[in-house]
Amino acid sequence: MRNPWFFCLCLVFSLLSYNSLAAALTTISAEQTLTGDQTLVSQGGVFELGFFKPGNSSNYYIGMWYKRISIKTFVWVANRDDPVSDKNTAMLTILGANLVLLDGSSNQVWSTNASSPSPSSGSVVVAILLDSGNLVLKDRPNYASASDSLWQSFDHPTDTFLPGGKIKLDNKTKKPQYLNSWKNMEDPATGLFSLELDSKGSTAFLIRWNKSQEYWVSGPWNGQTFSSVPEMRLNYIFNFSFVSNENESYFTYSLYNSYSSILSRLVMDVSGQIKQLSWLENAQQWNLFWTQPRQQCQVYAFCGAFGSCMEHSMPYCNCLKGFEPKSLSDWNMGDSSGGCQRKTKLQCHNLNPSNGDKDRFLAIPNMVLPKHAQSVGSGNVGECESICLNNCSCIAYAFDSNGCSIWFDNLLNVQQLSLDDSSGQTLYLKLAASEFHDDKNKIRMIIGVVVGVLVGIGILLAILLYVKIRQRNRTVEAVEGSLVAFRYGYLQNATKNFSEKLGEGGFGSVFKGTLGDSSVVAVKKLESIRQAEKQFRTEVSTIGSVEHVNLVRLRGFCSDGIKKLLVYDYMPNGSLDFHLFQNKNSKVLDWKTRYEIALETARGLAYLHQKCRDCIIHCNVKPENILLDADFCPKVTDFGLAKLVGRDLSRILTSIRVTKYYLAPEWISGVPITAKADVYSYGMMLFEFVSGRRNSEPFDSKDDQFTFFPTWAANVVARGGNVLSLLDPSLEGNADTEEVTRMTTVASWCVQDNDTHRPTMGQVVHILDGILDVNLPPIPTSLPSVS
Ligand SMILES: *[C@@H]1O[C@H](CO)[C@@H](O)[C@H](O)[C@H]1NC(C)=O
Ligand SMILES: *[C@@H]1O[C@H](CO)[C@@H](O)[C@H](O)[C@H]1NC(C)=O
Ligand SMILES: *[C@@H]1O[C@H](CO)[C@@H](O)[C@H](O)[C@H]1NC(C)=O
Ligand SMILES: *[C@@H]1O[C@H](CO)[C@@H](O)[C@H](O)[C@H]1NC(C)=O
Ligand SMILES: *[C@@H]1O[C@H](CO)[C@@H](O)[C@H](O)[C@H]1NC(C)=O
Ligand SMILES: *[C@@H]1O[C@H](CO)[C@@H](O)[C@H](O)[C@H]1NC(C)=O
Ligand SMILES: *[C@@H]1O[C@H](CO)[C@@H](O)[C@H](O)[C@H]1NC(C)=O
Repeated sequence: MRNPWFFCLCLVFSLLSYNSLAAALTTISAEQTLTGDQTLVSQGGVFELGFFKPGNSSNYYIGMWYKRISIKTFVWVANRDDPVSDKNTAMLTILGANLVLLDGSSNQVWSTNASSPSPSSGSVVVAILLDSGNLVLKDRPNYASASDSLWQSFDHPTDTFLPGGKIKLDNKTKKPQYLNSWKNMEDPATGLFSLELDSKGSTAFLIRWNKSQEYWVSGPWNGQTFSSVPEMRLNYIFNFSFVSNENESYFTYSLYNSYSSILSRLVMDVSGQIKQLSWLENAQQWNLFWTQPRQQCQVYAFCGAFGSCMEHSMPYCNCLKGFEPKSLSDWNMGDSSGGCQRKTKLQCHNLNPSNGDKDRFLAIPNMVLPKHAQSVGSGNVGECESICLNNCSCIAYAFDSNGCSIWFDNLLNVQQLSLDDSSGQTLYLKLAASEFHDDKNKIRMIIGVVVGVLVGIGILLAILLYVKIRQRNRTVEAVEGSLVAFRYGYLQNATKNFSEKLGEGGFGSVFKGTLGDSSVVAVKKLESIRQAEKQFRTEVSTIGSVEHVNLVRLRGFCSDGIKKLLVYDYMPNGSLDFHLFQNKNSKVLDWKTRYEIALETARGLAYLHQKCRDCIIHCNVKPENILLDADFCPKVTDFGLAKLVGRDLSRILTSIRVTKYYLAPEWISGVPITAKADVYSYGMMLFEFVSGRRNSEPFDSKDDQFTFFPTWAANVVARGGNVLSLLDPSLEGNADTEEVTRMTTVASWCVQDNDTHRPTMGQVVHILDGILDVNLPPIPTSLPSVS
């Protein structure tokens, strides 16, 4: 028998809550329905469930979100494909043994469809929201667990895999349970991308497009990591496990004890990538922990038919020339999957093909060729072209050492490579002749061009004359975006003819200068730049568009023939090496400041690698390139310059004696350079933060075995030895042991031989921040034992 007081209290409670319509419910039952602005809240107040309307949509959905965080983030949607139009007439209630959503006309829009049709007599079915984010249906209220539930939302995820949830495969039916992306950012309907457990029985996850094309596989689980996700080995937040019994096989994960308070989620994103995100309370934002596939353009048909994908560009998708988005509104919402359509019909598709000019081919260089080609035996380009031209359903061809490839119907997964990537091929795309704009009235056009050129030359001369006259008094040439294009003479004056040298780096010398507005700047005279003017300006404006508190701001540039200069904000405290290494003129840099500088520098590099539009690999991370402002806030400089110098980079880098100690082994082995090369250099620099001396200086370790500090330090760390013995003696032991441990451990991970074993800069930030723990690293073998 129930305690009558319990009912009494309940009655009082429901009367009280009746006054406030938006009051939070603790359960949903046949008597207690949810409607309008009411919400169901988990006992500890972590999750909340109720009606929501995404963006500008006019549809309402039942969704679940984190109650306490400032960015509304949905982790589950009940009726994703069956919205209701009015939250005040719709209601969520219990009917029989099921949780159902009824619309204004009491039609059943959605149901949990639990197997038992009616509750056993005498029991009360209720829905409870647990603090794990699991909505469970039980036939007696028991807040403690999800066991014995009639139904649970963890068995029916939407796009989010929460800790404690599962992604399973039914052993009897072999049916997978999907994690499906939203259709777009504002529509929770089932989207095109889905994550599932391989139904063929391997312990691998795979991602498919439209439940058919598979475009990413995790590789099998070995108990610690998936073979294609080696970075998971570095992860000490998540405890992934695989469970298999006679009914089901599934993956689940939890957060290790010390991180149990972190909010984390794995999402099948609308981008077609899975993303593990954790909430950073201090920054009030979601931080991307890892993502797969790593590149946006690896997502199958991300830009749809005739869309072209370009990595590191915004937006990623564009239509091929001669095509336009099929649905501009979808494209504007970031959903390009509908692809593009022809602006002008092909002549051979016209009913009366004798009208008009013959279709032609547009050569598009530097492409990753589309999927689903047919190869035809053909000896040369001309034959290849004529095969495609003479078959009306052929829409494109390409010719390479493997012969002739032709495409019919759609072009999917076309990718445009950047200019400095030479691995692409030329795609010849069939377009209507009118798309070429140069056909009809050729003669009239030639006349037009000639006249135009003459007029143009006249105007140009006039402008030149005008500029010549004006230039005498002018300071700067022009403003490009946020950058100022300076005149050489002006910077010569500003730096008193390059008299006050601040330093000398791999790319040239730096001079102090004062601009007209009396702001102090650092002017870098670049050497060895052999780039064409246009490309130089492109690179410089890329650098200029990067802004972060831990990166030095580029204010302008000068490009006058071979004279190329960059103008930066001046940093009064100079570069880090001056303060870090023993020097009569500088105070010892205390531990707190060192640690703060290390962390902030990592933030700057993480931004370069991950956050900004064009991912930038610095290629030359070292204390000389960390500048300090008046408050000793570090700012990374010289980023983006590696690309300016191009192929000569490694020569420049290795020709400098000090620099070579920061170079990752792949610079020498010739393996492609990734952002992990910066991680290596950063790790080498961290050892110097600890020792307060250059790694290049021979070192006398206590046990006489090592003369190269990082080797010794990596050995001490790997043994779990006393890291304080590594500490700069001039600090006299004034350092936080845990911070020293963290810094030396992360340094050892950063200098691992294999770049996939090194953390990302984003993970380094987490580790130094103390959010992420790592275990002991192995000793890297490529470290020299004798310097
Ligand atoms: C939503 O509607 C407002 C006003 O009509 C408009 O300014 C805004 O761009 C819309 N947002 C989206 C994402 O379409
Ligand atoms: C519940 O079952 C009905 C009828 O079999 C089906 O139409 C509906 O899609 C199911 N709903 C859910 C949420 O599975
Ligand atoms: C997805 O597949 C279904 C059939 O399986 C098909 O009808 C639909 O058009 C496909 N969607 C797209 C965007 O191609
Ligand atoms: C990791 O998860 C598994 C399965 O839930 C559990 O048995 C194991 O104790 C967990 N490990 C730790 C260190 O928490
Ligand atoms: C799946 O069930 C079958 C029997 O139905 C059983 O033989 C098999 O071992 C089960 N698979 C797993 C992985 O437990
Ligand atoms: C498998 O399902 C059966 C029937 O639903 C149940 O009795 C059994 O306990 C389940 N086994 C496991 C390991 O959950
Ligand atoms: C065009 O090519 C397709 C596929 O190879 C073929 O089936 C068709 O017969 C060809 N049409 C003509 C007119 O040659």
